[in-house]
Amino acid sequence: MDFDNENRIVSPDFNEADSETELSLRPKTLNEYIGQEKAKENLKVYIEAAKARGEQLDHVLLYGPPGLGKTTLAGIIANEMQVQIRVTSGPAIEKPGDLAALLTNLSDGDVLFIDEIHRLSRSVEEVLYPAMEDNALDIIIGKGPSARSIRLDLPKFTLVGATTRAGQLTAPLRDRFGVIARLEMYTPEELAQIVRRSAGILGIAIDDDGAMEIASRSRGTPRIANRLLKRARDFAEVMGNGVITADTAKIALGRMEIDELGLDNIDRLLLTSMIRNYNGGPVGLETIAATIGEEAVTIEDVYEPYLMQIGFLSKTPRGRVVTPLAYRHLGFAMSGQQQLDL
Ligand code: ADE
Repeated sequence: MDFDNENRIVSPDFNEADSETELSLRPKTLNEYIGQEKAKENLKVYIEAAKARGEQLDHVLLYGPPGLGKTTLAGIIANEMQVQIRVTSGPAIEKPGDLAALLTNLSDGDVLFIDEIHRLSRSVEEVLYPAMEDNALDIIIGKGPSARSIRLDLPKFTLVGATTRAGQLTAPLRDRFGVIARLEMYTPEELAQIVRRSAGILGIAIDDDGAMEIASRSRGTPRIANRLLKRARDFAEVMGNGVITADTAKIALGRMEIDELGLDNIDRLLLTSMIRNYNGGPVGLETIAATIGEEAVTIEDVYEPYLMQIGFLSKTPRGRVVTPLAYRHLGFAMSGQQQLDL
């Protein structure tokens, strides 16, 4: 079996169809940004202090599962600091020269946003160290014994790095960020607020119960909530009077095979194949990946965070284990031995 995560309606990854709406829905200021209270309150202080001193903001590392608003937050940081933002990503910067070109083209105070920063190559990372620390670019001229290095001054800039996996960042890179903020999954209440805000911007009619129904099935992720909102609107317009209520939302989500907890058929397949083939685990990540025909990193970055968040899957030193909660949700009974094992 091969699944196309791009076309999965509950995929937290950004897809083409998200682009037009996501841009119009993105909050521009910290006050408009819903949720992530801890990260937001701290950033507010750092931004205000940097502005009062007339300095650029310290380098910021944002980490957490995909779809939680890391790019949005980087845009807000630039907007609040009243500077320009340049957006790029780890895999897009292939050579040290690519990064040097980006850095020399910045203006004083600018934000350089590097998404998936854990995917920078070592040689590119080494250009970043003096840039982050001393606003300097070291260029080596010549080869062999006569090679020498000259140092160019760079504009003062703020690097905002985003990653789904802070653990994969090298220690020297991680240590150069003054601010490290972890983004958490959103609560259903926060997501309902986001859904109502988005509906307002897009001119979609929705009542509070409809917003809550969508929110509680959006696996803690605004990007998914906004996507489900657009699909629910289609059902409300074609099958109802255009208003998204709890009932129309339930029908729409049922038709998309997204259950009350936001699980889709791939999540269910992952859990049920662990139960059927491996007695619910412990089973290794690579084995699960081979069983359902999905890449191990995709399972780890995309499926597991939510399943662990809702307590359906746990990681043990011997492998992944399906929890009793998941058994109950999927309608499987646990054997007596399994219950004793827990
Ligand atoms: N749209 C996506 N994420 C959002 C957030 N955190 N706050 C408001 N609107 C959003």
